[in-house]
Amino acid sequence: MKDYNITGKTVLITGSAGFIGANLALELLRTCEVINIVGIDNVNDYYDVSIKNYRLEKIEELAKTKPISSWKFINESICNKDKIDAIFSEYHFDIVVNLAAQAGVRYSITNPDAYIESNIIGFYNILEACRKYPISHLVYASSSSVYGSNKKIPYSTEDKVDNPVSLYAATKKSNELMAHAYSKLYNIPSTGLRFFTVYGPAGRPDMAYFGFTNKLIKGETVEIFNYGNCKRDFTYIDDIVKGIMMVIQSPPKKENGEDGLPIPPYALYNIGNNKPENLLDFVTILQEELVRAGVLPTDYDFGSHKKLVPMQPGDVAITYADTTALERDFGFKPNTSLRQGLRNFAEWYKDFYNI
Ligand SMILES: NC(=O)c1ccc[n+]([C@@H]2O[C@H](COP(=O)([O-])OP(=O)(O)OC[C@H]3O[C@@H](n4cnc5c(N)ncnc54)[C@H](O)[C@@H]3O)[C@@H](O)[C@H]2O)c1
Repeated sequence: MKDYNITGKTVLITGSAGFIGANLALELLRTCEVINIVGIDNVNDYYDVSIKNYRLEKIEELAKTKPISSWKFINESICNKDKIDAIFSEYHFDIVVNLAAQAGVRYSITNPDAYIESNIIGFYNILEACRKYPISHLVYASSSSVYGSNKKIPYSTEDKVDNPVSLYAATKKSNELMAHAYSKLYNIPSTGLRFFTVYGPAGRPDMAYFGFTNKLIKGETVEIFNYGNCKRDFTYIDDIVKGIMMVIQSPPKKENGEDGLPIPPYALYNIGNNKPENLLDFVTILQEELVRAGVLPTDYDFGSHKKLVPMQPGDVAITYADTTALERDFGFKPNTSLRQGLRNFAEWYKDFYNI
């Protein structure tokens, strides 16, 4: 479907020091002959800032080898409306990819303010800026968490998702509604992407696979929720980035309806592996790969370092993406195996922490 040539275009990535944002910036620099990227991130300390700085360094390094492209990083919050307005007015973006957000389900139980500020006010500021300084395509992050405790699997974007079970999920669903309203009112082409548990090298330390690894090397016990009966559609970072790259190049068409008014140029996709894995199997593969990479000793006694515990508030038992729409429109489906993805993570971890 790729019908929008991004060569020479100016792209804003918010959350560019984050896991997905940084990988997207790297892929754009790697694969586009000429591209101008502006990254915004407030580099907050929700998790270890050294990982955010490491990702930014990787982008800087690559950008230096691409003299006809450009990379500009701005340390700013999307909550600062005046600053966001000034940045849009200066750069006149063709494409905006909004990945900045307060992520995490559990943290939204104890720190709800951060979610309202970054995910609602921040996203509103981005929408307002897109209205004032017209763009060709707004792509933004939603989440599998909008499905809440959806009974029907796999989860389809056709399913009704009006029952979020965390404030995080509620903010992500709100983003989809806000984007729809702006698409309709101001004819802004927008695409929402519901990501399903993204993992990989230099990933997020607040996520289970990373936290488990930190604990296992300290000899601590890992807690496996819902007594190990959780299933997650783990999606490897490169697959997510591939999906975003395809989507960026296919803005929804601007068309008028029979009433002469614009039909909202609005699209929504799941990006998931379409293959949920049992949390216990996931942890077993992770442990094997940590041993293989030399992060854990070969005689590590995993059995004595795991504890099966009940479900946590806000968590859901299964996430499972129906990726039919993504396959239909782009002929693409995430396909990196868990073993390969966790192998890459384990090798990166060994390197990064100098083990
Ligand atoms: N990683 C996943 O599994 C996953 C799953 C579903 C949805 N998502 C969504 O995808 C997006 C990217 O996720 P990620 O995993 O890269 O998370 P991340 O936390 O690594 O990246 C988000 C970045 O946004 C920045 N940020 C937060 N608030 C900001 C603000 N007000 N202004 C500017 N920058 C701000 C943070 O400093 C961080 O670097 C988020 O919207 C997240 O909710 C991620």
